[in-house]
Amino acid sequence: MGDERDTRSLPVGVFDSGIGGLTVLRQLRQALPRESFVYLGDTARVPYGNRSEHTVVRYARMACSFLTGRGIKVLVVACNTVSAVALDMLRVEFDIPVLGVIDPPARAACRLRPAGRIGVLGTRRTVSSGAYDRAVKRADSRCEVSSSPAPLFVPLAEEGWLEGEVPSLVARQYLAPLVERSVDALVLGCTHYPLLIPVLESSLASLATKEVPIIDSAGSVASEASAFLVQRGLGRPAGGHSDLRFYVTDNPESFTRVGRRFLGDDLDPRAVELVDL
Ligand code: DGL
Repeated sequence: MGDERDTRSLPVGVFDSGIGGLTVLRQLRQALPRESFVYLGDTARVPYGNRSEHTVVRYARMACSFLTGRGIKVLVVACNTVSAVALDMLRVEFDIPVLGVIDPPARAACRLRPAGRIGVLGTRRTVSSGAYDRAVKRADSRCEVSSSPAPLFVPLAEEGWLEGEVPSLVARQYLAPLVERSVDALVLGCTHYPLLIPVLESSLASLATKEVPIIDSAGSVASEASAFLVQRGLGRPAGGHSDLRFYVTDNPESFTRVGRRFLGDDLDPRAVELVDL
């Protein structure tokens, strides 16, 4: 019983290749206001999205060792690329529950559009891994997936280019093939894309002849993570102070500056620590 109580008080670990996972952390904090979180952003090696599967798996192993070494009760892999290629390995090699960001939005999309055609935008590695195709089939075997890589959205989101001519042009370019394939819903399969929702919505409205709902993986992950903690009896007991800590492998100053756009203004620079994995 004593051990159980201790486990419940441990923070939730969140891992991402860099800054983007803060969109997931933002939703997790809203869904789980009582929990403490430790976030690891591998800012020295971001982006993961164009790297080989072997390399992403290797980086994910190092990140998970780091976070488990600091004491966490559950790991949320906020990065779609890592969730796409390394989740099984993490679950086998680490003695801790590991939640990914691919199944929750796939389930949400299939619930919204049963037997529909699900469009997915993600990094090159996420798309080429076929992880969303498998997740959608698991959720509803009648659904089909059409996916496209959308790598330019990552630098656009980090540069804060969220509206205007350039992001609209890029969005239309990436969306056109999915609209041609008549997708019924669009899953944002990358941490950065929620920042571009307004531009994606207006581009979709101008290209598509029907309503195409956008499913942001961060929101569906947060509600499934919250249900998971309740089911496992792992929710943090009431009382006490919930804590928020960040570890980054490079550039803590730019993580704090850009990260505020992703997480919100309460990203405290004193809570950000530079580490080596
Ligand atoms: N975090 C990555 C993802 O969600 C995007 C950035 C990267 O390529 O590392 O796939």
